[in-house]
Amino acid sequence: MTSYEVVPFRWPLDATVRVPGSKSYTNRYLVIAALAPGRSTLEGVLFSDDTEAMIDCVRALGVAVRVDRAARVVELDGCDGQFRRDATLNVRQSGTTARFITPLVAVGPGRYTIDGDPQMRARPMGDLIDALGQLGARVEGGSLPLVVHGGVRRAGRVVRLPGNVSSQFLSGLLLSAPAFSGGMEIELTTDLVSSSYVDLTIHAMAAAGVVVERKGRFFSVAQQSYTPGTFAIEPDASAASYLFAAAAVVGGRVRVEGLGRHSKQGDVAFVERLAAMGCEVRGHKDDDAIEVYRDPEVALRGIETNMGDCSDVAPTLACVAPFAMTPTRVTGIGFSRQKETDRVANVVTELRRCGVKAIEEADGYIVHPGKPESATVETYRDHRMAMAFAVLGIGSEGIRIADPRCVAKTFPDFWETLESLRSLRAIAIDGVLGSGKTTVARALAARTGLAYLDTGAMYRCVGLAWLRGGGFLENSGRFASGLRFDISDRVMLEGEDVTELIRTPDVSRAASQVATVASVREALVAQQRAWAKRRGGGVLEGRDIATVVLPSAPVKVFLTASAGERARRRHSEAPGQSLDAVTADLVWRDHNDSNREVDPLQVAVGAVVIDTTGITVDDVVARIVSLVPWENR
Ligand code: DC
Repeated sequence: MTSYEVVPFRWPLDATVRVPGSKSYTNRYLVIAALAPGRSTLEGVLFSDDTEAMIDCVRALGVAVRVDRAARVVELDGCDGQFRRDATLNVRQSGTTARFITPLVAVGPGRYTIDGDPQMRARPMGDLIDALGQLGARVEGGSLPLVVHGGVRRAGRVVRLPGNVSSQFLSGLLLSAPAFSGGMEIELTTDLVSSSYVDLTIHAMAAAGVVVERKGRFFSVAQQSYTPGTFAIEPDASAASYLFAAAAVVGGRVRVEGLGRHSKQGDVAFVERLAAMGCEVRGHKDDDAIEVYRDPEVALRGIETNMGDCSDVAPTLACVAPFAMTPTRVTGIGFSRQKETDRVANVVTELRRCGVKAIEEADGYIVHPGKPESATVETYRDHRMAMAFAVLGIGSEGIRIADPRCVAKTFPDFWETLESLRSLRAIAIDGVLGSGKTTVARALAARTGLAYLDTGAMYRCVGLAWLRGGGFLENSGRFASGLRFDISDRVMLEGEDVTELIRTPDVSRAASQVATVASVREALVAQQRAWAKRRGGGVLEGRDIATVVLPSAPVKVFLTASAGERARRRHSEAPGQSLDAVTADLVWRDHNDSNREVDPLQVAVGAVVIDTTGITVDDVVARIVSLVPWENR
C-alpha cells in the first residue's frame, strides 16, 4: 500500500472504542519486570514496533519473556540485574527503549552494544551518556551506536542532568536507579520538559514497591529490589487522542473505555483542550472511561495553549484546528523538533500542503481556520504525523496519507480502529425473489433521502458480460472485477444502457449462476462496500447485504412473501410467460440462491423479518422507517 485515502465521515459519530495499551507504561513495566527478582505479569500490553524493540532487548539480556498477543499479556522472569554478559541490542526507532536500556545495561556485568534505526541514531543521547559518566560508567560514542561497559557499582555523588531536551533521560535513570549500588540522586540543571512522563515513571516504580523522593528538581532513589507482581496497563492516551479528535471534527460522541481523566498519562490533558474548543468531555474524576461529545450544531472555537506537557498530541490538535471558527496557537513544544521528525516544521508544511494557513513559530505554530484541500500528506516515517492527518482527512475530501504503515510504531490497528468509528446510515434489505425488495427499497430511499443500490443489477450485469464473452462459469470472476457499471435509475454497463436487457430470462438465469462463483461475489461485495462508505451509507438491496456486505448496518430487514403471491407479482411484471413457467423459474432460482456454497441467502442475525403478503408498500416502508434510529430521534 503506497498511500491511504481517508474517506470523510459524513455523519456524527456514536462509538465506543478500544484503544491499545499505553506504550509508555508497557516499556516502563518491561524494564521494571526485567530488573525485579522473579516472575511478573503485564496485562493490557501494547504490541507495536516500539514495545517489540524493548521486548527483544530484554530477551537479549537473558530475561525469559513469554508473550500472548491475543490476550495482550507478557510474562517475564526478572533476573535482579544479573544480565547476560555482552549483548548487542537493537532499539529500532524507539526513543524510550534507547533511553531506558542504556542506563539499565550499566548495571549488567558485561559489555553492551546499543544501536537503532537511522532516525534513532540522529536523536539526542548526549546528556544521558554524560550522566552515566558521572556515575562511573564508561560509554563509547556520543549517540547511537554506543558501547556501554557495565559493572558500575558505586554511584556516590549527585548526578546532574539537564531536563530540557528529553524527559526520557531522567525516566531512564530513575527506572534503573534502585539497581545501582547506593541508589541514585539526580539534580536537574534546567526545567523539565514533558514532566508528566516522569510522573508516570514514578507511578510505575511505586506499583513495584520503589519510592522516588522528589523535591523540586531533586530526585532520590534508595538501592533496593523491585517487587515482582501483576501490572495492569491502561489504554494509551496519545493513541486515544486521534479518536477523541474525530468526535471534535465530525461531531457526535466517542467513548474510550479503561482510560480515566485521573490517568497519570500526560496526554489525557488533550481532552481539556477539546473542552476549551467547545466539546463536552464526559467522565468524572473517578470514572474509568472518557467520552468526548460535540454537538453537531455547535462550531469549534480556536484556543491558545501551551502543550509542553503533552507535546505528542500537539499534531492532533493542529489537525483539529482548521475546523474551528478562529485561529489556534500552540506554544511550548519547541523541543518536539527532535522527536521522530521535526514535529513543528513538518506539521506546518503538511497543513500548508493541504491548503490550510499555518505559521511556524520557534516553539509552536498558529493554525488558521480553513477548508482543507485534497493532497497526499508526507509522514516523514512519523506515526503521529500519519494519525494526526488522518483526523484532518475525516473532515475533508481527498486527503491521502503517504506511508500509512508507519502507525505500527505505536498503534498497529490504527486504520481499522478509525474505520470502526464510521457510522454508516445503511439500511440492508435482503429477501427472497419477488418479496418486493426493489419496490420497497426504492420507496425507502426516496423517503429517507439515502442513495439506493440494487446489488442484483450488478450480478445481472456480470451475467450478461459472461453470456456475451463466453468461457467457463468459474472464470466469470474476471468479468466482475473489470466491469465499470453505474447503477442508478438506469443501469449502465461500460457506457451501454442495459436496464431492460438484464431483465430477460436468459440474463436472470446467468445472474443466478455467476452469483454462485466466489470470485464474482468477492469483487462485487468489495464494490458494494466502497459504494456505501463513499456515501456514508444508503439503502442496499440484495441477498447477502446484512450477512456479508454490511453486517454492521444499523437497520437490517429480511422480506418474504408466500410463493403464490411472489409468482403472481413476477407474472404481472413479465406477462409474456405463463404463470406456471414463472413459478418453475422462481422455484429454481430460490433453490440456487439458498443452497449455493458461497454466501447463501439467509436471515442475518438481528434482521427483522417482514412478510409482505397482502400488505401495501407504504405499510412496509412505514414499518422499516420505524426501525431507523436517525429518523426517530
Ligand atoms: O435481485 P435480482 O433478481 O436482480 O438478483 C439477480 C441474481 O443475483 C439473483 O439470482 C440473486 C443474485 N444476487 C445475489 O446473489 N446477491 C445479491 N446481493 C444480489 C443478487
